[in-house]
Amino acid sequence: MFQQLSRLNPDTILGLMAKFRADPFAQKVDLGVGVFRDLSGNTPILDCVRRAEHTVLKSQTTKSYVSAAGREEFNVAVEELVLGNSHAAKRDRRVRTLQAPGGCGGLRVGAELIRAASPTAAVHVSDPTWGNHVPLLGSSGLRLQRYPYYEAAAHELRFDAMLERLDQAPAGDVVLVHACCHNPTGADLAPQQWQALIELLLRRRLIPFLDLAYQGFGENLAADVAAIRQVAEALPEVLIATSYSKNLGLYRERVGALIAVCEDESRADATYSHMLQIARSIYSMPPDHGAAIAACIFADPHLRESWISELAAMRTRIQDMRLLLSQKLRAVTGDDSFDFIRAQHGMFSLLGVSTAVVDRLREQHHIYMTGDSRMNLAGIMPHNAVYVAESIVAARTAVMQAA
Ligand code: LMR
Repeated sequence: MFQQLSRLNPDTILGLMAKFRADPFAQKVDLGVGVFRDLSGNTPILDCVRRAEHTVLKSQTTKSYVSAAGREEFNVAVEELVLGNSHAAKRDRRVRTLQAPGGCGGLRVGAELIRAASPTAAVHVSDPTWGNHVPLLGSSGLRLQRYPYYEAAAHELRFDAMLERLDQAPAGDVVLVHACCHNPTGADLAPQQWQALIELLLRRRLIPFLDLAYQGFGENLAADVAAIRQVAEALPEVLIATSYSKNLGLYRERVGALIAVCEDESRADATYSHMLQIARSIYSMPPDHGAAIAACIFADPHLRESWISELAAMRTRIQDMRLLLSQKLRAVTGDDSFDFIRAQHGMFSLLGVSTAVVDRLREQHHIYMTGDSRMNLAGIMPHNAVYVAESIVAARTAVMQAA
């Protein structure tokens, strides 16, 4: 049977992780996989997580199954974090939430749900988008299309082109939008642009699917979901995938959720029955440990406060590195062509250079980023910023001269 299988190339992001690990060079710089790093280069366990984990382990009396929907108190808290306490859709009992194995699990259950409800609908994803969106959603069998979003060489959103393309999508199609901290570009829609998008989605009867993987990494927990709340107020049906990999640092524990906002209560019940069945048919039940930790943090005012300040520290560290790297690039180039880095949000920015430059940075300078020139700014440190800035300019010049 396996003779039929030819060897595949590794996933871009995971393949890069392996290459970085194998590089023996002492000053190597990892701007690849999207994990937070502190000033020592570690991806720490948050203090609130350690404390909550201790409480969970002390109070847990069984490892018996929870349910296909996961932990109820987790799901209730997720809804509150994303939609707030008094959202109209929640009041009308038309929101249903399912704990999922990470944001990926939420996205995949969402894709299967779309396929069950509307098998011919296409899902429109931004160009560019996170490298795993297409395999993750596409392997459900859904048709995917791309809408223009960002021009890497000019460092600019292509908002007019985005609206123009989506204006041609047939009613019932789904539009995947990054709720904040767009991966890989770091370029988010401004409030007026969200308004214009909401109007278009309503007018064209398109269904938004919002990917919220970085709540708290943009401005703060509430500001980062302001657009989601507006979308969920204006539109009858919305899907939202959330992840707690980054903002709680629970990466390997796989903690996420899928929220479905439906037209009314009975449709919400029907939709939820499908979400449960999809979960059961793919992985049966989500892992509980990380969600138990998250639920403990969400419910305990002290732990929650500690989370909010630890999250602010992670966000500030990345913002500081955005500023530092753009200053160093300004010093090396003598111009402001990299100033866009400081204005963008979240973990990533696209440097906007060719793959030849990216390859040279990796091969000659031991600086690792994905082929589209996506940098994880959390890999920048005060001690390597000058090296990275000088290397970027040197690699760019060398490639230009060789051409
Ligand atoms: C990333 O974009 O690098 C992260 O979200 C990790 C992943 O799974 O790709």
